[in-house]
Amino acid sequence: MQEKLKQIHDDALKRIESVKELDELYKVKVDVLGKKGKLTEVLKGMKDVAAEERPKVGQMVNETRSNIEEKLEEMKSNLEAKFREEKMKAEVIDVTLPAKKNKIGHKHPNTLALDELYRIFTGMGYEVVEGPEIEYDYYNFEALNIPEDHPAKDEQDTFYIDRNIVLRTQTSSVQARVMEKTQPPIRIISPGRVFRSDAVDATHSPSFHQVEGLAIDKNINFADLKGTLAEFAKELFGEDTQIKFRPHHFPFTEPSAEMDVSCFKCGGKGCRFCKGEGWIEILGCGMVHPHVLEMSGIDPEKYQGFAFGVGLERIALLKYEIDDMRLLYENDDRFLSQF
Ligand code: DAH
Repeated sequence: MQEKLKQIHDDALKRIESVKELDELYKVKVDVLGKKGKLTEVLKGMKDVAAEERPKVGQMVNETRSNIEEKLEEMKSNLEAKFREEKMKAEVIDVTLPAKKNKIGHKHPNTLALDELYRIFTGMGYEVVEGPEIEYDYYNFEALNIPEDHPAKDEQDTFYIDRNIVLRTQTSSVQARVMEKTQPPIRIISPGRVFRSDAVDATHSPSFHQVEGLAIDKNINFADLKGTLAEFAKELFGEDTQIKFRPHHFPFTEPSAEMDVSCFKCGGKGCRFCKGEGWIEILGCGMVHPHVLEMSGIDPEKYQGFAFGVGLERIALLKYEIDDMRLLYENDDRFLSQF
């Protein structure tokens, strides 16, 4: 009997020692201490033990039992501690690692330039108005004093949808639409896409963008035009920027001019950027032709106005020193991510 107990005791301890999982440990417990367990079997055999031996054997059984129980308990907490540690290790987070940077988009140089124009002109009280890209010949040409046989209407320049409908060649079309609907005072800028049947090269594209400006009120004269555009040039290219007007011709303005700004690279001395000129051409402008006012139902005796048209790509190319317009349309991330 004693021998048997010792055997059970040693076996159990050995098994407990080698257990790796809590499940296994539970199995050992059932095998040894369970209802049909080995130690329980021994207890059943107690009735065959001589009466004087019983207390001694009983004590041995109890000791064996509590030894095994103790060992089981110890192993259980060891295993639990081990598993907890493993879990912690597996779930560890290194809070000192740098965070992954989310890739965010970049504003296109055209958009950046447009944002600048919005900032400058809305700051002067101008409103932003848009018009359709597919436009009646009337608003694109006729209402702007460009008659039927004018060379600007040449099919080589204009995409015609039909006799009366074109892809607008200029955002000046929005001038005519606004004047027709609104009585002065008017102060608007109108950004948008325009189309001309040009071949693609470093400075041309069949589709590009313009921003039109228009101000109409009582007593507006060329000095207002000059003051407004001088302020615009300084805001856009820097406080020291000078402006210069060269006489020009546009059918919808009289007088008309092209405006140059002093080269913001060399300050006007002449450099590669301004091709030695010291000046850079920037926009077309003029006093709204009385005939244009009249056609849109505004009395030229009462009201006068000025208008201007800026090429958005031209501003973007100059401002961000990009030397080929095609880069603006290629959607190359290596280029765009620089802005
Ligand atoms: N529409 C002209 C162009 O496409 C630009 C322009 C010039 C607009 C003079 C104007 C202006 O409003 O007054 O070349």
